[in-house]
Amino acid sequence: MPSAQVAAEESQAPELIGSAPPSPAEPIEAAEQASLALPPAIPLPRLAQTLRFSQRQIQFVFRARRELGEVFRMRGVVPGGPIITSHPDHVRSLFTAQPEQVPSLTGESPLRPILGPNSVLTSVGERHMRQRKLLLPAFHGEAIAQYAEMIARAAEQEIDRWPLGTPLALAPRMQAITLDVIMAGIFGVEGKPAPGSPEAALRRTVRRLVRASTRPQAQLTELAHIGREEAIGPLRLGLALLDRPTYAVIAARRRAADLDERRDILSLLLRARTEEGEALSDKELRDELLTLVLAGHETTANSLAWAWERLVRTPAAHEGLLHAVREDEGAEERVEATIVETMRSRPVIPIIGRRVTVPWRLGEYGVPADTPVAISILLVHHREDLYPDPFSFRPERFLGHKPGTYEWIPFGGGIRRCLGAALAMAEMRVVLTAMARRLDLEADRPEPERAHHRNVTMIPARGARVVVRARRG
Ligand code: HEM
Repeated sequence: MPSAQVAAEESQAPELIGSAPPSPAEPIEAAEQASLALPPAIPLPRLAQTLRFSQRQIQFVFRARRELGEVFRMRGVVPGGPIITSHPDHVRSLFTAQPEQVPSLTGESPLRPILGPNSVLTSVGERHMRQRKLLLPAFHGEAIAQYAEMIARAAEQEIDRWPLGTPLALAPRMQAITLDVIMAGIFGVEGKPAPGSPEAALRRTVRRLVRASTRPQAQLTELAHIGREEAIGPLRLGLALLDRPTYAVIAARRRAADLDERRDILSLLLRARTEEGEALSDKELRDELLTLVLAGHETTANSLAWAWERLVRTPAAHEGLLHAVREDEGAEERVEATIVETMRSRPVIPIIGRRVTVPWRLGEYGVPADTPVAISILLVHHREDLYPDPFSFRPERFLGHKPGTYEWIPFGGGIRRCLGAALAMAEMRVVLTAMARRLDLEADRPEPERAHHRNVTMIPARGARVVVRARRG
């Protein structure tokens, strides 16, 4: 039976979800915008804002909201702004607007020098729609279902290898699983690619570069890339290392005799034609593959890492999960609620941006045309009115409650909603369940792990360290 504490918390579930008071948000005429005030500005020099935002985004945005309200203006990070909001009605207005009124800011983000200007993540307008349409079939529910068994195998093999009784950082272990899964999906090779193959070289290089990106110097490299279109310095060298095996994989697959029958994403992209009958060039394929490898494995791995960082420090949630999974009592619902609460309280991508091309109303404020507007996912997810006791980790909030479309937004939304959301959820369900069934985990230290900001992600600073006390099966 779950403990009295778990039972008591579950009975409170309805009060753990609330609603926000309405706040108008929509495109408006320039005259109306001129009659409204601009959102209040953060009173700090541009450089101080940029540094604080990139190093300590959580403290920075929470303080700004406390002092200035739910819409405020910052300087740095992207030219001309951004204005940051955290009201679900504002989120709805941005996610449901005409695409040309709210192009994404990813093309101006630190991802641009890495992924190039043409990938589904960094392009805007018609180009973006074209790339998105080409990729969508590979990420539908049915396509994802075929991965479930392979995800389970990858997870079981990993779990078997972990040492007992000594601290273990989960993030790199989770990354080994999610990298195998995305590589299998993209290239159609399951497990470790054959030694000496271009796929093996690519996997090795990705791991090496991701590891390098956790070093302190990497933050300087990131800062040096704000507003840049091309990579410079160490990043440029790293990308050259990555390009060699990527182009080799593409060339080999173009020559494959069974290209027409293959179901992996690369083959699908090689066969794909636009409405005008155009195929993708090697450069376009490179940008797209790199996007999927990078967007698709670290995010999922760190979400799983955060789940355990929270669970091992929240006995009621941990106990509730182990009980549900091991006794098979409402396991599916409990696992889902745990994932949803993890992504609420620790969204791996804490902020996303759009550029409004026409004047916009955000509550009592007016925003001129051509202004970057960012949605702080972190702030939306920590609104007291939506999620009472927002800083507590309480999966019970979501037992019997689906999160609101504009209130729970870890995958963004609208025509830019994460393409890999179904795959990421499938991976997290399978891995979380396998770990809960087989492992007794403890925190290596009682204090919570700080969030570390890397490129556009927010990850556990010590990699979610745990000690495996026992392993079953
Ligand atoms: C827990 C894991 C993940 C999280 C939290 C996450 C989050 C996000 C977010 C916030 C966006 C931006 C949405 C917006 O601007 O509205 C995004 C976009 C995207 N994600 Fe994910 N993601 C995850 C996993 C994945 C996976 C597994 C893949 C693919 C293999 C993937 C591929 C993409 C792509 C291609 C886009 C760009 C979509 C577009 O602009 O049309 N992501 N993701």
